[in-house]
Amino acid sequence: MFLGLDIGTSSVKAVIIDERGAVVDVASRPLEVSAPHPLWREQSPGDWLEATIGAVDDLAKIDPRAVSEIRAIGLSGQMHGAVLLNGQGEVLRPAILWNDGRSGHECQLMTEECPELTAIAGNLAMPGFTAPKLLWVARNEPDIFARVAHVLLPKAYVRYRLTGEMVEDMSDASGTLWLDVGKRDWSERLLAVTGLRPSTMPRLVEGSAASGFLSADLTKRWGMAERVVVAGGAGDCAASAIGLGAISAGDAFLSLGTSGVLFAVTDRFAPNPASAVHAFCHAIPDTWHQMGVMLSSGEALSWAAKVLGQPEKDLLGSLGDRVAGPSTIQFLPYLSGERTPHNDPGASGAFVGLSGATNRNDLVQAVLEGVAFATRDNLDALAAAGTVLKGVDLVGGGSRSDLWAQIMADVLGIPVTRVEEGEVGAALGAARLGRLAATGETPLAVCVKPKPIKTFSPRSDVHGAYVSAHARWHRLYPALKELRT
Ligand code: XUL
Repeated sequence: MFLGLDIGTSSVKAVIIDERGAVVDVASRPLEVSAPHPLWREQSPGDWLEATIGAVDDLAKIDPRAVSEIRAIGLSGQMHGAVLLNGQGEVLRPAILWNDGRSGHECQLMTEECPELTAIAGNLAMPGFTAPKLLWVARNEPDIFARVAHVLLPKAYVRYRLTGEMVEDMSDASGTLWLDVGKRDWSERLLAVTGLRPSTMPRLVEGSAASGFLSADLTKRWGMAERVVVAGGAGDCAASAIGLGAISAGDAFLSLGTSGVLFAVTDRFAPNPASAVHAFCHAIPDTWHQMGVMLSSGEALSWAAKVLGQPEKDLLGSLGDRVAGPSTIQFLPYLSGERTPHNDPGASGAFVGLSGATNRNDLVQAVLEGVAFATRDNLDALAAAGTVLKGVDLVGGGSRSDLWAQIMADVLGIPVTRVEEGEVGAALGAARLGRLAATGETPLAVCVKPKPIKTFSPRSDVHGAYVSAHARWHRLYPALKELRT
């Protein structure tokens, strides 16, 4: 048996898989996020640990035999968060999370001080990433900064408390802006920009390699045999990819969750920072990935449902399975700013083209198309970085709508395949990485792809109309940015 632990933002999920790779048990414990100021998002690292131990305790209650047979653990986690520890390994302040927007100014300062930053890190300085958060602490909480001896990402903190080891995997380390992503090593130059040294950072391992062993206390608590290996693991996006079997160059998926992620595997470091493409190490050796991140994807439909006072299901249902072609109404989905391709926390949403005849269906269609157009921007940004996708797997809440999947295919101009997925994507990927660390099997043998459920191909009679509609839509963001006060 192998255990995957995903330290998310709203919950910790724990999943056990058996030797055939099938999910045997699942447990989860909720987490709260605090927002002490409008742009701030923080969590207490102690809460992650408590929820992680609690979730495994829950598994041990429902299936003690499976838990006692666990040979390896893999960790997945929300990326980018800054956990600051003193020389005794004690937490100095609440962790600053991936969705915290306080460090926009620090991003500017970092880029001015180190123009080669984007070339080394493969990514633009964005407030979501870890390094600008540390610069913010240095500038605003100098007493705390002076006591920082170690900086860990969320799952590395949990690992530290489970194993006593300070270790990070390459995929999560890529989201710090301190990693030389091409070389898969910490960059002294980038660390110096925020007043840190490589000695502050955890040891690096590949996601599928061993990072340590579960502590004797916890091994005993859960009735496990000795020396349960803990794998390097992965940031949650790379872990989801492992769960979806996306490990070879050209494999790609689109996740239509609250936020949207277009993820493509590459066999080399292939950045396109100008379009805010994330170019990160993957969780297996000699493999990288590119990622476009859209902050409001499924979120845009949830927002529409809330404002229109009707469940999403009903809004989708009244449009049927297909639309005849692009709506005359246009919608910008930037309800929480945007990362790729604009890197603009101040980007905002808009409806354009309303008339007295506009009805609810028109608005909903525009929302679905607006998210699809934003996804098309991401597809183009990846193509500009050398990755021309021939098709994508579709996962996440939004993937369940035939209508939306068809619009995606029509707008992207490539086949979109809804695949079978459990509720535990990233935790499943983590469990697979645990298995790889324990058994030394090849990633291809373990990271199998889920079953395809349905493929949506672009309709030749409407794709051209969507290409023109996207070109018009694409001009709205710069035009509206001009008008911003
Ligand atoms: C990736 C990202 C999110 C977080 C939260 O860049 O910011 O996926 O990892 O889950």
